[in-house]
Amino acid sequence: MIIGILGAGKMAQMLVPKLVSGGHRVVLSNSRGAASLQALVEKMGPGVSAADSKQMLADADLVILATPWEKTAAAVSAAGSWAGKVVIDTTNNRRGPRPEDLIDIGGRGSSEVVAELIPGAHVVKTFNYEPIPVFAGGLPPEGDSGAIFFSGDDDRAKVKAAQLIRDIGGEPIDAGSLAEGGKLHGMGGPLSLKLKLLSPKEAKALLDTARHPDK
Ligand SMILES: NC(=O)c1ccc[n+]([C@@H]2O[C@H](COP(=O)([O-])OP(=O)(O)OC[C@H]3O[C@@H](n4cnc5c(N)ncnc54)[C@H](OP(=O)(O)O)[C@@H]3O)[C@@H](O)[C@H]2O)c1
Repeated sequence: MIIGILGAGKMAQMLVPKLVSGGHRVVLSNSRGAASLQALVEKMGPGVSAADSKQMLADADLVILATPWEKTAAAVSAAGSWAGKVVIDTTNNRRGPRPEDLIDIGGRGSSEVVAELIPGAHVVKTFNYEPIPVFAGGLPPEGDSGAIFFSGDDDRAKVKAAQLIRDIGGEPIDAGSLAEGGKLHGMGGPLSLKLKLLSPKEAKALLDTARHPDK
């Protein structure tokens, strides 16, 4: 597949080598245009290119959102129409890791807010719930096949996202809808911040406990 990534920072750069190893081509984009990404593209090697966000969105079979929360609305708006696109949302409503860095969105799930910004897109939330080095080190080639929680409302988009997770060596664990799963593995939710990738067995047990805390 051609995977577009909106945002070319730490999250994107963690995912790119794993996506390329998984057999995908990657198109990176940011707010400053393709020329600003040439050095990064060369560093990342074959299978990686850059484009402006409109071109990236037009060409991509699946798009990964990896922009800072406060930039995301402007970023998706500049890229054009997202109708019909499968979108993996890695964003969190945070300015940083400290409790005071949380951005108030009125108790809503952050990916539900993102889904409203890109009407007609099929949003799957994942890669949001641990610090980036945990995903980097917990997936091949650095780590074993760690469990990756994901959630979403569109079954076909979830099948695509689950396959992508397998392609990069992870074991997808379906946490449910954006409303339910998105809160469980939203940053600060019961599935977040374990500071390691769990084994599939551990992840399924934790999901069961999170869904039925009184059991
Ligand atoms: N850091 C973590 O450990 C972690 C863990 C889980 C999830 N996340 C989430 O992942 C997302 C990305 O985080 P990150 O750490 O990768 O951020 P980052 O390193 O700051 O990178 C952000 C990228 O977004 C681009 N960008 C900014 N404004 C843009 C716009 N208007 N249009 C297009 N691109 C734009 C930036 O490039 P330009 O400024 O050049 O456009 C940059 O390439 C965040 O929402 C964060 O909450 C982070």
